[in-house]
Amino acid sequence: MKKRILTGITTTGTPHIGNYLGAIKPALYLAKDFDESFYFLADYHAIIKNSNSQEVDDSVKNVALSWLAAGLDTSRSYFYRQSDVPEIMELSWILSCVTAKGLMNRSHAYKAATAFNDNEEDKGITMGLFSYPILMAADILMFNATHVPVGSDQMQHIEMTRDIAGRFNHIYKNTFEIPEAIIQSNKEVVPGVDGRKMSKSYGNIIPFLSTEKVLKKSIAKIVTNSLEPGQPKDHSDCTVHSLFSYFANEDQINELTKDYKDGISWGDAKNKLFEIVNNEIKPIREKYETFSQDSDLINDLLSDGASKVKVIAKEKIESIRDSVGIKKIS
Ligand code: TRP
Repeated sequence: MKKRILTGITTTGTPHIGNYLGAIKPALYLAKDFDESFYFLADYHAIIKNSNSQEVDDSVKNVALSWLAAGLDTSRSYFYRQSDVPEIMELSWILSCVTAKGLMNRSHAYKAATAFNDNEEDKGITMGLFSYPILMAADILMFNATHVPVGSDQMQHIEMTRDIAGRFNHIYKNTFEIPEAIIQSNKEVVPGVDGRKMSKSYGNIIPFLSTEKVLKKSIAKIVTNSLEPGQPKDHSDCTVHSLFSYFANEDQINELTKDYKDGISWGDAKNKLFEIVNNEIKPIREKYETFSQDSDLINDLLSDGASKVKVIAKEKIESIRDSVGIKKIS
């Protein structure tokens, strides 16, 4: 049987270095171990949390660009927009009809929102938020993905997908592959400039596709301690060292660790970090600049991707409709 990975990227905001290191890079790297890889822009997931149409639109472009610039090869992978494949929405409804409401009540995302808002009725908890895991299940099951790389926060959604698929297979005929999660947590959380997890909501990000100057400035903002040049520094629990290690090989890491013992100044340590980050990002930034001038090219790539996956989706949805009894009258 073919091994297929599939992962969705919710199109919110503009990817930062934490997204690149924690999601984009490892997901692209994984493709080599699989027969087929599917990467898609989860734009219908994006409108659950964002009703600003301009932001949704911009973010689809920025996220697509980031993945393409980072090396997503559209000739070897399927790369598409969720909204270009309406069969996914159709499947989402069909799956809704076999999904126990109680299962959705247990969703962490939904529970967190209800805990925060004591009155569900007027505090904007939408059916979209509630049904989010079902749409995600449809994304995955539509293409019989065998493996789904996700962050650990998404583990529950994969469990739910497995549940939903099992239930459908039980009620109707065996239709869906039961997917496995690949949890991407071999490294700890990527720290932001203040040492907490890098996140837009903490305002501590280092941008991914910025100019050299902006990159340098953000690195300069990393919070360190007040040890003077010449004083030995502890490399464990240091944001500069930790970020460095994402980009460096073992020798380079050991070298920096030694520099810490020898009392490198924070300014020099940050310069080393900037050099190594910039080295890796430079070709990505150049690609990004070329792509970002050419919306037609991005749109063409995405519509090619959609045409390819729609062949699979159409066949699958036909058989699913048939299973549930939506078919030609005989
Ligand atoms: N919910 C995922 C996230 O926020 C994004 C996503 C949507 C996804 N559909 C998916 C991930 C299908 C994997 C498979 O990260």
